[in-house]
Amino acid sequence: MKIIGISSSPRGKNSSTLKLLDAALTGAEEAGAEVEAIDVTKLNLKYCIACNSCHETGVCAIKDDYQALLEKLLAADGIILSSPNYITNVTAQLKTLFDRSPLVIHEQLFEGKYGFSLTTAGSGEIDFVLDIMNNYMMHCGGNFTGGVGCSMAEGPSAMEAAIDKSQEMGKDLVEAIKEKRPYPEQEVAHEAWRGQFKYVILANKEQWTHNCEHWMEKGWI
Ligand SMILES: Cc1cc2nc3c(=O)[nH]c(=O)nc-3n(C[C@H](O)[C@H](O)[C@H](O)COP(=O)(O)O)c2cc1C
Repeated sequence: MKIIGISSSPRGKNSSTLKLLDAALTGAEEAGAEVEAIDVTKLNLKYCIACNSCHETGVCAIKDDYQALLEKLLAADGIILSSPNYITNVTAQLKTLFDRSPLVIHEQLFEGKYGFSLTTAGSGEIDFVLDIMNNYMMHCGGNFTGGVGCSMAEGPSAMEAAIDKSQEMGKDLVEAIKEKRPYPEQEVAHEAWRGQFKYVILANKEQWTHNCEHWMEKGWI
């Protein structure tokens, strides 16, 4: 079982959010997973240029580090997303990865994968930022098991508690993957999304040939 942790703070090893990610990956490793941390701030990831060619060919037209990162994510069973709160959102580096994911979303390529999210903030709005990351996971077809955040204003004891909780969440992620844990509400949301996105795929079937073939293979249209 492989679990990838994405870190996205530009503060590198000084990042508080990375401390939560390290704890989560330690927990996952203790529970038996092979783990890998990837820092997207160190990668060459260009902005999506909305050329739509991924929908036609199944491959992003931009030549940078995205394709190799995508292949790692697709090979993983679990994905842990992490970002500090930057203006009540994720960092630009993580958002750049999200924006490069239309193929993953259109073809629901994280179907069967599980993940969760981690954040730290100077003051608050922890849940808002966790929801952004967990919604991304859902949009890509995956399920999320929860999230952990810490407001740095609450001091070192809050951070210690968040580190412990992240480690537990890492262990729990391994269990969720092993038992193929059902999340009925998320399954309903996936079905509803496919039910409405089907019309977008059909409306673009002449151009989005790769998407269309994938949907036919899956029996979604
Ligand atoms: C550009 C920038 C924007 C930020 N925006 C917010 C914010 O909107 N709300 C908040 O509570 N903290 C905000 N912060 C504080 C960070 O979220 C906080 O310091 C966080 O713990 C940093 O995590 P890191 O050490 O992993 O980089 C911001 C920090 C920076 C540098």
